[in-house]
Amino acid sequence: MYFAMEDRYEQMRYAHCGSSGLKLPLVSLGLWHNFGDFSNLETMKDILFTAFDNGITHFDLANNYGPAPGSAEKNFGIILKEELSKYRDEMIISSKAGYTMWEGPYGDWGSRKYLIASIDQSLKRMGLEYVDIFYHHRMDKNTPLEETCGALAQIVSSGKALYVGLSNYDGETLKQATKILDELKVPFIINQNRYSIFDRTIENNGLKDMAAKLKKGIISFSPLAQGLLTDRYLNGIPSDSRIVTDGRFLKEDNLTTKKMEAISKLNDIAKERDQSLAQMALAWVLRDGIVTSVLIGASKSSQVLDNIAAINKVCFSEEELKKIDEIVKEYE
Ligand SMILES: NC(=O)c1ccc[n+]([C@@H]2O[C@H](COP(=O)([O-])OP(=O)(O)OC[C@H]3O[C@@H](n4cnc5c(N)ncnc54)[C@H](OP(=O)(O)O)[C@@H]3O)[C@@H](O)[C@H]2O)c1
Repeated sequence: MYFAMEDRYEQMRYAHCGSSGLKLPLVSLGLWHNFGDFSNLETMKDILFTAFDNGITHFDLANNYGPAPGSAEKNFGIILKEELSKYRDEMIISSKAGYTMWEGPYGDWGSRKYLIASIDQSLKRMGLEYVDIFYHHRMDKNTPLEETCGALAQIVSSGKALYVGLSNYDGETLKQATKILDELKVPFIINQNRYSIFDRTIENNGLKDMAAKLKKGIISFSPLAQGLLTDRYLNGIPSDSRIVTDGRFLKEDNLTTKKMEAISKLNDIAKERDQSLAQMALAWVLRDGIVTSVLIGASKSSQVLDNIAAINKVCFSEEELKKIDEIVKEYE
């Protein structure tokens, strides 16, 4: 039986999610990989307990996380029921719908039909009465934004989610959705987008500026570029790495010679800062205080501990930032 460490809130820091009352840890844990049916339940427990013991209160899921789709929620639900349920009120659990989940025209994108059915399925798989945050997972140009936002409103008013979020939206669509959600008085508090030293999309599509302007939170996913922005691949491809054990999204082809050179140079800067490359990559995302939390993945508990220590040094000199930008540009 798991009992959480008593000093679990001593090291972690928490930030308000935009102008909302909800605080998130600066480092959150996602269950996209390593929690599906091919992963080991004991390793999952070790990762989750290590995170919670060190102040990570936020756990991020989606209907389709696995493989198979749904299995990450199912496995998380088993661990929650057996070991973590006594800490439910200390946890922020999120889920999403927006990518392909089931066959036919009602298991994808952003219709009211899909979102309402999906939240019910997610709650059942996790054994929960409500999630803390429910996201629409991606923009859907073929469904009126009013319909998607209306479904999110209904999910909150029926008590199935406390807050809502939008994922993979751009700045302009975020602005339009905020107007609709405000009119519906929906507690929309957070954007979930990819953001890392290697992926600056939200700086270019208006999302980062718009979220700051509207006082909405941002939680950035894949802040380590799925492991590229760590020491994982500095000396070849380890047999237990994501490229080998999964390979659905991160592939050997992503490790070009140019990319490897960039990673090696970034690693040198991290060393000068007395940080691991992973810590520097996470600190970079948190550097200006606009991003509320970095949403990491982990295949082992030691990675969680390494990553949490990033919060001890999030500031950069102008010179360091310039060097990082130059490396990224040079090896694009
Ligand atoms: N909203 C969306 O559309 C969306 C999309 C993608 C992800 N997400 C969310 O974001 C979460 C994180 O995504 P991600 O897993 O791609 O994040 P990530 O943190 O960029 O990558 C995680 C991987 O990096 C490696 N790693 C982590 N810490 C390390 C360390 N200290 N040293 C060495 N290697 C380390 C591990 O790879 P190995 O397995 O090789 O050890 C780990 O599995 C997901 O779980 C999900 O919740 C959301």
